[in-house]
Amino acid sequence: MKRIGILTSGGDCPGLNAVLRGAVRAASSLGWEVLGFLDGYEGLLNGGDYVVLDRKITTGIMAQGGTILGTTNKGHFVAKVGAGDKMAVPAAVIEESRATLAKLGVEGLICVGGDGSLTTALQLCEAGFKTIGVPKSIDNDLEATATTFGFDSAVACVSDCLDRLHTTAESHKRVMVSEVMGRHAGWIALHGGLAGGASIILIPEIPFDLDKVAEAIMRREEAGLKSTQVVVAEGARPKDGRQMLHVTGSGEYKLGGMGEQVAKEIAKRTGKETRTCVLGHIQRCGAPTVKDRILGTQFGVKAVELIQQGKFGHMVSYQNFEVTDVSIAEAVHRLRLVKPDSQMVQMARAVGISFGD
Ligand code: F6P
Repeated sequence: MKRIGILTSGGDCPGLNAVLRGAVRAASSLGWEVLGFLDGYEGLLNGGDYVVLDRKITTGIMAQGGTILGTTNKGHFVAKVGAGDKMAVPAAVIEESRATLAKLGVEGLICVGGDGSLTTALQLCEAGFKTIGVPKSIDNDLEATATTFGFDSAVACVSDCLDRLHTTAESHKRVMVSEVMGRHAGWIALHGGLAGGASIILIPEIPFDLDKVAEAIMRREEAGLKSTQVVVAEGARPKDGRQMLHVTGSGEYKLGGMGEQVAKEIAKRTGKETRTCVLGHIQRCGAPTVKDRILGTQFGVKAVELIQQGKFGHMVSYQNFEVTDVSIAEAVHRLRLVKPDSQMVQMARAVGISFGD
């Protein structure tokens, strides 16, 4: 019997369990055994921390958010910080992992993660590990795949929250500013804001001018529309300013606070009562949408197929409505950003959405 491994790494997102279930089912049909390593790559250390994943254990998990294997975006395997700085995973860590996989007889390792975790997968691959990548990100910012699972669920969450916020915004005739996730790319803000009926969407790719934001609100006011919904990506920044970073209790730099900043400036410039709502991790949790369940399942099945074909060093990718693959080396370090002149942005402008520019 062939034995393969799978792990989930980086920030969790809806659809991870669908990938696990899909991979386990596809592997079981081939008569293979699947070891699920716990807490991302960390499970490869200390001789291996894993559970045997079978059809029984993975039954009923598809509709659950998060990952039954646990995950981390810290630890011994971090190969990338933010969008740029790359680091080498220490040689001792790589050798310890190699020994674990050899001892357990694991013949292929499926690494499910975002750009940072796939950078680790690439380093393991370069060190001779038989790795397969599966892209994951609610931010949907990987160039090598047309979409990632998790994104649709995050957008559905934002849209649902805006639907709710409309009622209070209208009742009080207020400006509601919602800060959403999206460090480098504004996909969640753009799609979520559009679906939720926002009038102003501020994204990292289009630096904004607060006077323009205020003008858009006052134009609505003059037209008798007394409430306005503004969506701000956490990575958005003003034309003459920077992204907002804060330090967490554990000393990490995280984006956050731009929503509050924008709200304050709007209140100052328009005199309107303004409130901020930070959607935060709500966007990353809960049940995956139907689309993410299907995409996750497809990605899991494809990863097993890639092992079967011996296509190590490759990553599952979604292109032209088909699940296919690309080399991990080609896929990492290439962010997919919103193009300011894209059809999507133009159509948003056509329905009256302002990007504050
Ligand atoms: O990359 C996904 C993401 O959800 C970002 O949008 C967000 O900035 C970050 O992860 C939050 O990470 P953490 O869970 O460590 O706070």
